Formats: sequence, structure tokens, C-alpha cells
Amino acid sequence: MNRKRIAVTGGLGYIGSHTVVALHEAGYTPVIVDDLRNSNADVLERLGGICGAPLEYYAADCGDVQALAALFDTPLHGAIHFAADKSVGESVSSPEKYFANNLGAMARWVEALRLHRVAHVVFSSSCTVYGEPSSLPVDESAPMQDATSPYGYTKQAGEQLLRYAHAAAQSANHGSSSPAFGVVLLRYFNPIGAHPSAQIGELPLGTPANLVPYLTQAAAGLRSELVVFGNDYPTADGTCVRDYLHVCDLAEAHVAALQHLERKPGDLDVFNLGSGDGHSVLEVIRSFETATGTTVPHRFGPRRAGDVVAVYATADKAAKILNWRTKRSLDQALEDAWRWQKSLK
Ligand code: NAD
Ligand code: UD1
Repeated sequence: MNRKRIAVTGGLGYIGSHTVVALHEAGYTPVIVDDLRNSNADVLERLGGICGAPLEYYAADCGDVQALAALFDTPLHGAIHFAADKSVGESVSSPEKYFANNLGAMARWVEALRLHRVAHVVFSSSCTVYGEPSSLPVDESAPMQDATSPYGYTKQAGEQLLRYAHAAAQSANHGSSSPAFGVVLLRYFNPIGAHPSAQIGELPLGTPANLVPYLTQAAAGLRSELVVFGNDYPTADGTCVRDYLHVCDLAEAHVAALQHLERKPGDLDVFNLGSGDGHSVLEVIRSFETATGTTVPHRFGPRRAGDVVAVYATADKAAKILNWRTKRSLDQALEDAWRWQKSLK
């Protein structure tokens, strides 16, 4: 058995749980660290079912490194850091919470990784670091804009923290035979969908803030209607444009990132992860209706504060260097999201 243990902080969350499956399928041994602040212990059992065996799990805050001493007793090949709070709106009202978790806990975790010489580190960043890009599609060289929320700031600063940690590790490691500290920063565009088994997906805690969970709840009759935030934007149909990608494609990119660091030990690089296509909110609604044969009750409402008009990626760099590109279509992602929604009833 391949004993390449990969710590997955936030491994019971939406993207982390799908990545645990992708790691298992690629022959790695995922080890989950998650304190359940935004997930359910039930996901661990479901993951064990999909992977065919129970998984090593630590119910701890990743910033509480003393509680995680046993995790480091067996060497870790790599670490993927998903653990963070992710609500843009909440970050505006509770910035301290976002600094404490997304940066404070992360800093202690990164320090532990360096101390224990974990050589392959992957970080969940976001296209939010680009703000409203001046040209589309946006590539990795586009400048970061001033963050429009504390959440967005923590993603910019999280990237920066890892850049500094990488530089510190390079100079500390100079002339040593220890494995170099490699880092890949992944800027996700808009992940949607669920595992086709409908065993794991995005947990609907409270009122969804994101488009697809709200849309599927409206289609299921759990919400009276989806409000489309603005139809007077300078886009083809007046609604905002985003780059939606299937969460299973996104999960597989993390495997590709680890493999990249295995090929190039000690590298530091950043990649956009998107499909390369922009879709408007109305296109998503129409695609869902066509793919599932289910109507989405919806109406137009005012613009949402802080929304960018349009953002979509060029993912050419990930294709060229990571040999990764999306394989699943928008329709497939929406069908899987619907299957997951129906499983929750
Ligand atoms: P999620 O909330 O579903 O998963 C995060 C998981 O981390 C949860 O299970 C939570 O319990 C856990 N967690 C949070 N803080 C922790 C801590 N200090 N210690 C241990 N566990 C902790 O979120 P997600 O959608 O899976 O997002 C994963 C990552 O990807 C986040 O860093 C998020 O900012 C980033 N991201 C998400 C999106 C998106 O659209 N979902 C887009 C861009 C970036
Ligand atoms: C949002 C965050 C982003 C974060 C990502 C993942 C903002 C401004 N951006 O991205 O930083 O990384 O979530 O958590 O919050 N929409 C509707 N009606 C709804 C919900 C959404 O019309 O009920 C529209 C939005 O206006 C947007 C599109 O759907 O045009 C996608 O919205 P959403 O899923 O929230 O993602 P982002 O705003 O792109």
C-alpha cells in the first residue's frame, strides 16, 4: 500500500471531502483534521464507505498543534490546507473571527508543517484575490486588487504567509539534505456539484449564500424562489458571469498539485483552477432546467453588494504544468448537485 500520508485540514468540508476521495483514488493515504465547526461527523463515515475503509481522523482545531502531536508521529508526505471560515458576509461583520482562524490557526499549522519537515504543501486560495479584473479571462499574473472583504484579505494574506514560509524554509534548508519545502497556491473559481454517489456534497447549514445550493433548494421547494441578484450588469443577458467547475474536477487538481511538487521538490507556484468558460446566472438556471427537467422558480432582485460583474479563468497554466483541466461539464455538475439535493430530503 502507498503510505504517502497527506494531512487534509478541513477534510470533512465540501471541497476537502471530495479531495479525500480523489487522494484515496490516486493511491495516497488521506489523514483528516477537522474540528467540525462547519461540517458533520457523518461525513467521515460516508468517506469511509466510499474509500472502502475507515480513515485516520483527528477531531481538532488545526491551530491547536499540541492536540495534533500524534498526527506527526508518523511522517507526513504532504498537507492540503482547506480549513478556514468562508462566508464573505459574515467576515464583514466578524472580521476578528476570520483573522483568528484563516490566518492565526493557519500560521500555527504552517509552523508545525515546517517543524516536522512536511515537504509538499497545497493551499486553498480563491479567485476573490483578483477582485474585478481589468481584462478577461484572468490569468495568474493579473494583479491582486484591494480585498473587498476580510475573507478576501485572509486569502491574499494566506498566500503571502506561505510565500514567506517558503522563503524561510529555503534559507534554513540551504546545504541540507532534508526535503525542500514546496508550496502550491490554488486559486479556485466557483466550485459546484457533488460526488456522483450523492454520498457527499455541500452541507446546507442555514440559508445558502451561494448560487447553486440556493437554486437546488428553490427547485426542491425548500425556498419559495431564487432571487437573481441584478439583471442590469454590462453582460450579454444582464446577469453576472462566473467560472463554475465541478467539485470533483477541483478535487483532482489537488492530486495534480502534489504530483507537481514531487516532480519539482521545493517549488513555489500558483495556479488558477477554473473551466475557462464564463456562464451567467441565467445560463446556470436554464442549464439546470434543461439537464434535470425541473423548473427553478426565480425573479430578478437588486444587485448584491460586493459582487464583481464577471470573472472567469484562463486555466492554461494548470493544463500545461499540472496536466490538469476540467473534464466534467456544467450540466453534469448541476445534475450531481440536484442528485445531492434530493438525497437530503
Ligand atoms: P467548508 O466550510 O465546507 O469546509 C471547511 C472545513 O474546515 C469544515 O469542515 C470546517 O469544519 C473545517 N475547519 C474550519 N476551520 C477549522 C480549523 N481551524 N481547524 C479544523 N477544521 C476547521 O468550506 P469549503 O467550501 O470546502 O472550502 C474549503 C476551502 O476552500 C476554504 O479555505 C475556502 O476559503 C476555500 N474556497 C472555497 C470556495 C468555495 O466556493 N467553496 C471558493 C474559493 C476558495
Ligand atoms: C462567493 C464569494 C467569493 C467566495 C465564493 C465561495 C462574494 C462576493 N464572493 O463567490 O469570495 O470565494 O463565494 O464561497 O460573496 N447569485 C444570485 N442569487 C443567489 C446567490 C448568488 O443571483 O441567491 C449570483 C451572484 O450574484 C453571483 C453568482 O450568482 O453572480 C455566483 O454567486 P456565488 O455562488 O455566491 O459565488 P461568488 O459571488 O462568485
